[in-house]
Amino acid sequence: MCGIVGHLGPMGSVDIVLEGLKRLEYRGYDSSGVSFINENGIINTFKKEGKLENLVQLLEDKDTASMISIGHTRWATHGGVNDTNSHPHSIENLSMVHNGIIENADILREGLIKEGYTFKSETDSEVFLIMVHSLMKSMPLGEAILKGFSQISGNSAFVFIHGEEKEIYAIRKSAPLVCGTHSANSHALVSSDAYALVGVADRIYFPEDNVLCHLSGKNKELISFYDTDGRPSKRYTSKVQSTQIDPSDKGDYEHFMLKEINEQSGLVRSLCQYYFEGDGSTFLNDIGKLRPSKFHISACGTAYYAGLVVKNFIEGINRIPCSTELASEFRYRNPIVNDGEVGLFISQSGETADTLACQEECVKLGVKTLSLVNVEGSSLYRGCDHNLLIRAGMEIGVASTKAFTQMGLTGRLLSFALNEKYTDKEARRELAAKVSLLADRMDEVLGRESEIKAIAEEIYNKKGYFFTGRNIYFPIALEGALKLKEIAYVHAEGYASGELKHGPIALIDEEMVNIAIVGPELKDKTVSNIQEIKARKGIIVSIGPEDDKNLKKMSDYFIGLNFDGLEELSPLYVNLVNQLLSYYMAKFKGTDIDKPRNLAKSVTVE
Ligand code: G6P
Repeated sequence: MCGIVGHLGPMGSVDIVLEGLKRLEYRGYDSSGVSFINENGIINTFKKEGKLENLVQLLEDKDTASMISIGHTRWATHGGVNDTNSHPHSIENLSMVHNGIIENADILREGLIKEGYTFKSETDSEVFLIMVHSLMKSMPLGEAILKGFSQISGNSAFVFIHGEEKEIYAIRKSAPLVCGTHSANSHALVSSDAYALVGVADRIYFPEDNVLCHLSGKNKELISFYDTDGRPSKRYTSKVQSTQIDPSDKGDYEHFMLKEINEQSGLVRSLCQYYFEGDGSTFLNDIGKLRPSKFHISACGTAYYAGLVVKNFIEGINRIPCSTELASEFRYRNPIVNDGEVGLFISQSGETADTLACQEECVKLGVKTLSLVNVEGSSLYRGCDHNLLIRAGMEIGVASTKAFTQMGLTGRLLSFALNEKYTDKEARRELAAKVSLLADRMDEVLGRESEIKAIAEEIYNKKGYFFTGRNIYFPIALEGALKLKEIAYVHAEGYASGELKHGPIALIDEEMVNIAIVGPELKDKTVSNIQEIKARKGIIVSIGPEDDKNLKKMSDYFIGLNFDGLEELSPLYVNLVNQLLSYYMAKFKGTDIDKPRNLAKSVTVE
């Protein structure tokens, strides 16, 4: 979703902002733009629909020498995708970028029109710019931003520059915003994502909601924070960041998604080591003491499906009731949450607006909150009482792969920590061995890419796809269908195997594919469901036990797996096959795999 980068420093500001925007491309966007202050104190703005490359080309023959600039990648919410609606928005010598939604924009716009203002764009964002411009008639920029910010509703982050002031102001409410400095090099930065600051800033700051961030070269500290009453604020945290970290690259892989799929076995091994033998054991110990009477899991997208996997672990192993709900539903349905229960939130980014709202709801309802999250220091991480990091590393591909696996596995470790046998060394050894077996089996699947690719080539052009599975494989069917939809732009649905006959079977014909997950559990029943599809000429791709000759015979395509010894972890193993199938089907279709159309990696609006 929208990406923001602002920079102030000795020189080369536009290049630093463009490099930051490039890093944020993975979040998903449909246009981009940059504003910079030239040596005469005049703001220049360039914006372009489409890929960032279009903006870079537009700037090629321009003089972009500047010490202060702001940039933006826009994921359209209010107003179509075009140059005018792109950010930054400017009036006179004031320019601004925005991430979020201003819910009362229409009414505010009416008032400003009555004051005599006209609007260039259809966006809600421009309303705040004009509001601040109007307020500046009677107060300085910083005060005007604080005052205007108190009058808008919804979740937003804004960054402003003013030609005469040569400073940057930023503010947020429930939308991601981080600041960074490199004091030796006199760089000060602001962004919606710490990833944009990697390698440039050596200290990162996380401002709380409604804190005004002021970046200024005149100030020795480069950055200062103010509360809504204008007094210096302590409502921020900061941490040192190494400038040695390289931003991710694809290595020899054609796509980040394929690289990330291939990283999973290594990540699985190191996650277990971290929580059983490394620094993570303290966190796991603390969680073990929670003893909740129920978990309320909420999450979005792939993280929601991971939540269904985690529910199966916790209910199956710990017999603790668990509800898994879509965050966008949970937050508005007045959920019944009682004392002693725990809100559990699963998120790769830790910035998903609906998931954050559920966490806030649980805080209001007075229960403890726990996250399974990838980004340390994210809003979710900071808001929860407890966190278990899923340690997937940077995930660039918009379609989540390794984060799903790590979410599921962290959930399994959570369920272990909640178990009475937690301190039993033998039980710990057994689980570690099972995780190690999972990693080995994943490596075997990764070695069979060409076999899976060949099947993808046969089926990628069919009419539609049903992923089916029962019990612990049902969430994997849902996640498999989501992955295929996201990157191959084909219609796919995940169904419980036994449910297909209650309606969707009407769609089955010789152009429909059933990707059937057949684990050792309830195998015969699942095979009967496959027969029902086969009888109606559906194409069967089954993923099942490698020694099952009968299943192999009845399937058009068969991917045999070794489930032995994996037990409850086997869904994470099967999912790898689905990931590879989707990846290669998308590759045959020729889609933009790492940045699928219309999708955003981090969804910071509801
Ligand atoms: C977006 C992404 C999905 C992701 C979901 C939740 O829709 O495209 O891949 O699963 O958000 O994101 P989170 O960061 O909370 O896991």
